[in-house]
Amino acid sequence: MSRPSDNEARRIFVRTFGCQMNRYDSERLVEILGGQQFVAVEDYRKADLIFINTCSVRDKAEQKAFSYLGRLKTLKSNRPELVVAFGGCVAQQYGEELLVRWPHLDLVVGTHSISKVPAMLARYEVTGERQAWVDFSYDFGDEPDGRSQLWKPEVSAYVTIMRGCDNFCTYCIVPMVRGRERSRPSGEIIREVESLIECGVREVTLLGQNVNSYGQGVSGEVDFAGLLQRVAQVEGLLRIRFTTSHPKDLSSTLMRSFADLPQLCPHIHLPVQSGSDYILQRMNRGYTRDHYLRLVKELREMRQDVGVSSDMIVGFPGESEEDFRLSLRLLEEVRFDGLFSFKYSDRPQTAARLLDGKVEEEVKLERLQRLQALQEQITLEKNEAQVGQTTLVLVEGPSQIGGSQLSGRTPQNRVVNFKGSPHLVGEEIHILITIAHAHSLEGVVCLEENVNLKIAKEKSWCGR
Ligand code: SAH
Ligand code: SF4
Ligand code: F3S
Repeated sequence: MSRPSDNEARRIFVRTFGCQMNRYDSERLVEILGGQQFVAVEDYRKADLIFINTCSVRDKAEQKAFSYLGRLKTLKSNRPELVVAFGGCVAQQYGEELLVRWPHLDLVVGTHSISKVPAMLARYEVTGERQAWVDFSYDFGDEPDGRSQLWKPEVSAYVTIMRGCDNFCTYCIVPMVRGRERSRPSGEIIREVESLIECGVREVTLLGQNVNSYGQGVSGEVDFAGLLQRVAQVEGLLRIRFTTSHPKDLSSTLMRSFADLPQLCPHIHLPVQSGSDYILQRMNRGYTRDHYLRLVKELREMRQDVGVSSDMIVGFPGESEEDFRLSLRLLEEVRFDGLFSFKYSDRPQTAARLLDGKVEEEVKLERLQRLQALQEQITLEKNEAQVGQTTLVLVEGPSQIGGSQLSGRTPQNRVVNFKGSPHLVGEEIHILITIAHAHSLEGVVCLEENVNLKIAKEKSWCGR
């Protein structure tokens, strides 16, 4: 695929909200439209097509998407030829009614319809017809196989290995907006990883709402541990990560992969959601607090340096102060390396919406603050324990903190900032950790340990 020259190209601006699945879909969209003479731009005011990829996991996320859409009204009335498209989970949830509610919106693109965008655009350009495409018709293979030109050069890339979710946790809207769980054929995944390596990628993160159930019910397909083994055989791949794991499906075989596969980073994101069995049961999570603690113990026995991060919800319907304290205690017992925590938010079509015992907003806020304060202290202590240690960092690019700082991540997924030459981007190098912050580390390049590093003078990246 060749890149269109600037005078023939149309420009797309994508704003992505939500999880890595949405980011992956946005990347695929830009790549698909790259074949239709589109180039991605950083300034939405210069775009011919603005695509908003939305998240509906909590009410706040949904409101953010609508407020972004609302802000485009003036731009669209000044430039009627601009195409405004709304995609992702909120688009899937409301479908066609969005076209009625938002007269400046042209296209509604559901979670299964990314590959339909070129056809929708073509029709819009010929007929001017505003359209919504939100049926669950997606199949793997609908998009071009492999990745020939990346949106942006990246050291680390996402690869979707499954879509949808069948777990129906009672608080969660994802199964309603992403549809039933489907595993992507492993051959397709491997081809995509190989094509990413050719584009200069060194690390892949395999994505799914519950990667542990990969391949279940597909005859002749490998399971997730088997998939990891196949991905690890791809030549040139330095690091493998995956997310998200569901504790109810985390098998010992899979845990053993951390010991067996050198490319597999010792980090697992294992959302626990609550430390109370009563709440876990009301959430339909399918495991107990004890089971979760046993999993963490086994993981640490399997690979002593494994980093464990998690998600937690506070103020789920029926959560008493005592239930909440069990969550705090779980944090103290596990000592997560990182935690994402959220106030429970009622979502349409979910079972929890109908549960009694709703917790008041100020109680939820107060619990969230207590939980986050405790975790901040734990994360900082764990980061401080890194000071004086030397660790392997995969260099991803310039640091957000600016200057001549570069940024990368440790195998356990800690962010490390340090001074270094831009030629180090894409290399795995030894860094001595010197300073710990709450959310990142600082370090210096260890000259002695890196003597054998041979850096290609001219790196070629697809998309550059
Ligand atoms: N598939 C993943 C994550 C899905 S959504 C998993 O099984 O864990 C990401 C996180 O959002 C969830 O882990 C949960 O902590 C949070 N979340 C989902 N629905 C929510 C809701 N209604 N209110 C608050 N947080 C929610
Ligand atoms: Fe939502 Fe549960 Fe599925 Fe995760 S496993 S996406 S929390 S229903
Ligand atoms: Fe949000 Fe949809 Fe992901 S609801 S968390 S963008 S699957």
